[in-house]
Amino acid sequence: MTEQATTGPRTVVVTGAGRGLGLAMARRAGADGFRVVVAEVDADRGARAAEGLRTEGIDAHCVPCDVADPQSVARLAARVAELGPLYGLVNNAALANGVGGKEFQDIDVATWDRLMAVNARGPWLVAKALHPLFGPVGRIVNIASDAALYGSPRLAHYIASKGAVIALTRAMARELGERGITVNALAPGLTECEATEAVPAERHGVYAANRAIPRPQQPEDLVGLAAFLLSEESRYLTGQVIAVNGGFTMN
Ligand SMILES: NC(=O)c1ccc[n+]([C@@H]2O[C@H](COP(=O)([O-])OP(=O)(O)OC[C@H]3O[C@@H](n4cnc5c(N)ncnc54)[C@H](O)[C@@H]3O)[C@@H](O)[C@H]2O)c1
Repeated sequence: MTEQATTGPRTVVVTGAGRGLGLAMARRAGADGFRVVVAEVDADRGARAAEGLRTEGIDAHCVPCDVADPQSVARLAARVAELGPLYGLVNNAALANGVGGKEFQDIDVATWDRLMAVNARGPWLVAKALHPLFGPVGRIVNIASDAALYGSPRLAHYIASKGAVIALTRAMARELGERGITVNALAPGLTECEATEAVPAERHGVYAANRAIPRPQQPEDLVGLAAFLLSEESRYLTGQVIAVNGGFTMN
């Protein structure tokens, strides 16, 4: 493995940061002074996102990466090691676009397996490869979904994958606490962005009728919690699942 640099800005890796919620969280991390690595399976999208962040003055790097592929993830780890100390990882990449619509019995095995490989195995693979690069303090933020808390219909494979992300968060929090690394899950509600443009009006309606804060959710609504979970201030918070959804679900 490449020797880790010990000086320079702290690096935060955001998977799937080519657009949507990942890009919004990467932008905020950059604004907070972190070096940002956009780890994105769509290399062109990732490159455009990193270029856009650089025009905003952010130290952003794109590393093409498929989080479901161990070799691709190993290449990400090698590149991150060259860049300098790793401080944060936001496991955001997922198949979240156009995945709903079928009842559980109609989902085919190949679709189930692919979604699990990206959404559930991916965050584990990335954390497994990157954890040796963390310094004495680290932050892992796993992006779950409030669909797994609410139990949204016609999304069984997606919900199961996000349930796995929540359980993984707790397992990793137990194992990484001694090393000063916190692991938390952020569970967004239905957010207005590219991935949810095709979500049926009926599902938007369920959210609209049941939020405590009665307005549509925007990507920018998440970035404050993501920034807090990445900050020094959250040092004693770990193994938690926090829903940011205008009160659509409540613990
Ligand atoms: N948008 C919402 O309403 C919503 C709600 C709850 C949870 N989430 C979660 O938030 C996260 C971001 O969602 P989004 O709406 O921005 O989705 P999106 O589809 O717009 O963005 C996901 C990004 O991840 C990338 N990606 C997909 N597979 C990948 C892989 N194998 N390796 C690396 N990158 C990959 C995509 O190319 C894309 O750029 C996801 O984990 C999603 O499940 C979103």
